[in-house]
Amino acid sequence: MEYNVALLPGDGIGPEITAQAVKIVKAVEKKFGHKINFREGLVGAAAIDSTGSPLPDKTLDLCKSSDAVLFGAIGDPKYDNDPKAKVRPEQGLLAMRKELGLYANIRPVTTWPSLAGLSPLREDIAGGVDLVIVRELTGGIYFGRPQGRSEDGKTAYDSCVYSRHEVERIVKLACEMAAKRRGKVTVVDKANVLATSRLWRETALEISAGFKSVTMDFMFVDNAAMQIILNPSKFDVIVTENMFGDILSDEASVISGSLGMLPSASTGLLTSVYEPIHGSWPQAAGKNIANPIATILSAAMMFEMSFNLTEEAAAIRKAVNTVIEEGFLTGDLNSKNPKSTSEVGERIAEIILRD
Ligand code: IPM
Ligand code: MN
Repeated sequence: MEYNVALLPGDGIGPEITAQAVKIVKAVEKKFGHKINFREGLVGAAAIDSTGSPLPDKTLDLCKSSDAVLFGAIGDPKYDNDPKAKVRPEQGLLAMRKELGLYANIRPVTTWPSLAGLSPLREDIAGGVDLVIVRELTGGIYFGRPQGRSEDGKTAYDSCVYSRHEVERIVKLACEMAAKRRGKVTVVDKANVLATSRLWRETALEISAGFKSVTMDFMFVDNAAMQIILNPSKFDVIVTENMFGDILSDEASVISGSLGMLPSASTGLLTSVYEPIHGSWPQAAGKNIANPIATILSAAMMFEMSFNLTEEAAAIRKAVNTVIEEGFLTGDLNSKNPKSTSEVGERIAEIILRD
């Protein structure tokens, strides 16, 4: 089959890690006889520098006319350290999520036995974790209006807004996922304080009634943050609003041993986007040291979810597993004998073609 993929490398380590994912996609293309056309677009600080916009129309059109988007990372310290900057790289990512209607961000957290010693958690706690965070991605405090400053500049405000419809579709997706997994959905909220959370609870209960094989429980976000550390293997599917999902997924990701291991898929109304959950790590940009595995596993999710090619996805995951077992890894996972970003990418591509 033939597919068009929009490649958006973005900022910092984005270009290096996406280059490895491209190698992997090319290996899969060769092995399985597909044709995958990459078309590159500008996003983030890189796009601001050359066009003034963090998400140029041309890039958005490219995404809309592609079968999938493979995304690196965005963010640049020159904007982080300038709170007055009018245009920020992150606006490109947020605009892309909104314009493509990507309301569901799926972040699977798994652990690998040979990396157990690298987890900040004890091996008996970290072992066997297999959970998915389903993060709502186009609502909540990230997009709620009003947002801004009072006229005298001395007060600032953000608004957390959710409609029933937004909650229904994300909870439904979480229940569908759970029905194919261990049948458990945990809704994480702050219903003891927030009106939006109470709407989430009410709506989630109604949706769950339609899923006989799914059991649903509710947890306040502060408790959830603690339970993810104390007893992560008791979670199956966690569904939560935008900002809670952002925070909990960074927390949960390091259980695997490194933030550089976790892929994600953002799906919704138009083209889906596949991206690692980590950021642009500007300090490492151009050094060929960043872990490309999260982006490579995001490409595996692309094969599975956008192209329905499960064997191809399995081949990528198996090859990733092999480099993990060989210890052929970047410094975050093998500080004694670190391999470079491109070496790890090449090795995984080689294994896909060999096996
Ligand atoms: C993520 C990132 C983004 C977010 C930033 C870069 C805007 O942290 O994808 O998790 O907060 O959603
Ligand atoms: Mn985040």
